[in-house]
Amino acid sequence: MEHIKLKPFPKGFFWGASTSAYQVEGAWNEDGKGLSGQDVMPIPKSITDFKVCSDHYHHYKEDVALMAEMGFSEYRFSIAWPRIIPDGDGEVNQKGIEFYNNLINELLMYNITPVVTLYHFDLPLALEKKYGGWASRQCIEDFERYCRVCYEAFGDRVKYWLTINEQNMMIIYDMVGGGQDQQKKYQMNHNMLLAQAKAMVACHEMVEGGKVAPAPNIVCIYPKTSSPEDTLAAMDYDQLRNRMYLDVAVFGKYPEAFLEYLSQRGLAPKIEEGDMEILAAAKPDFIAFNYYGGSTVSAISIEEGNKLKNFKVDGIGSMNDINLSNLGEIDISKIDKSVIEGFMTALQTEPGIAKGEKNEYQIQTSYGMGIDPVGLRVTLRQLWERYGLPLLITENGCGVPDRLEEGDKVHDDYRIDYLRQHIQACREAITDGVDLIGYSPWSAIDLVSTHQGVTKRYGFIYVNRDEHDLKDMRRIRKDSFYWYKKVISTNGEDITD
Ligand code: BG6
Repeated sequence: MEHIKLKPFPKGFFWGASTSAYQVEGAWNEDGKGLSGQDVMPIPKSITDFKVCSDHYHHYKEDVALMAEMGFSEYRFSIAWPRIIPDGDGEVNQKGIEFYNNLINELLMYNITPVVTLYHFDLPLALEKKYGGWASRQCIEDFERYCRVCYEAFGDRVKYWLTINEQNMMIIYDMVGGGQDQQKKYQMNHNMLLAQAKAMVACHEMVEGGKVAPAPNIVCIYPKTSSPEDTLAAMDYDQLRNRMYLDVAVFGKYPEAFLEYLSQRGLAPKIEEGDMEILAAAKPDFIAFNYYGGSTVSAISIEEGNKLKNFKVDGIGSMNDINLSNLGEIDISKIDKSVIEGFMTALQTEPGIAKGEKNEYQIQTSYGMGIDPVGLRVTLRQLWERYGLPLLITENGCGVPDRLEEGDKVHDDYRIDYLRQHIQACREAITDGVDLIGYSPWSAIDLVSTHQGVTKRYGFIYVNRDEHDLKDMRRIRKDSFYWYKKVISTNGEDITD
């Protein structure tokens, strides 16, 4: 729909940006912090690990001052569970509490509202070793206890809480250690959903005026053609990839078709007595979601889908051998681009549900991510119309190897262009009637990407280091820094250069 006049962004709209603890903090083993799975993840030699990152742990004052200079009214960051409870279920580390207290107080001093993610990929390693992490129901209790420790320590000042970052990505791309056992994967998913439900109930119980939300990664799903089969495939894939997670979080129950799909394949989780009551008792106050683009699918039979998944590519193996946590180890420079493209779309294939396809309408970033601002408007509409809850965009952004030029300049016009188009889409969605409460793109400051090192930069603030040379870690304002500052100061009215 083309509007004749666009509504303004609402008064009090949250303008800010996001980070996560293990990607920005560094100080991986300081002040009593325990290890997380991310700290010991195998990393290809060509890129950095997560030990120092942007050293935000020691630079947080300077970083928050820069966020304030941009005019942030919100900052989304995560708390590292192993910094608070080093072994996941034992003693609380007071030094960890102190760090986040300092960070929160610093933000509040500048009137920046903290939006806190409780868990962003960094499960304490000790719990993985002790009982296999999310495979055990014990993890539900330990997560709830950790959340309660956080609510108790910070709930007087932090009112916006996010439970689990991108649970759907962790499950779909097996970042939780399910391996080839698909049933185990859905059991872990169920355990995480229960843990999330308990965390939501505890937030309402312990944090006065507290608001809590799930934080999945949502992509806009398109059918490849206008055929009824592809349309159904898009609907089914949307359910598997996006809606299932939010339906359970908001309505407290799994979608029927999804449960049928699981049970016919022997993948259904064991649902114990009382589980459905736990899920039904939890009610989020808003929905946070990360949006990077669209995904296109066509229909595929079970037989054809299985063939595709077992298809072997030299240097990679078969689709079944790959997940997001080992993707970074593959030397893609040696593999033909078309093979990679085919491989990436096939990664999205679910036999009998949908086959991933290339979308010829989407421009791609240098890292192969589709740029799709209209898809953001579609997604905002779909989420608002289905769930009727306020929405907060907690990630959206453009990872590019920025170049530091003479005179400490970073001319990231591509990032400005990307963000501008998405902010425009937000405004159109607001005019459509969507209750969007904020825009918090990825990322406030350069940090280490999940799989592609520090060269793939997302921030408004450049951090002067490269993959293996820490240089001086100087903070440098990119062109997008000044541009975003203007956008914020005009409450989104002026998004021009
Ligand atoms: C999201 C994650 O999936 O995407 C972030 O929540 C991540 O942790 C971001 O950094 C961008 O992905 P990447 O792989 O480019 O870092």
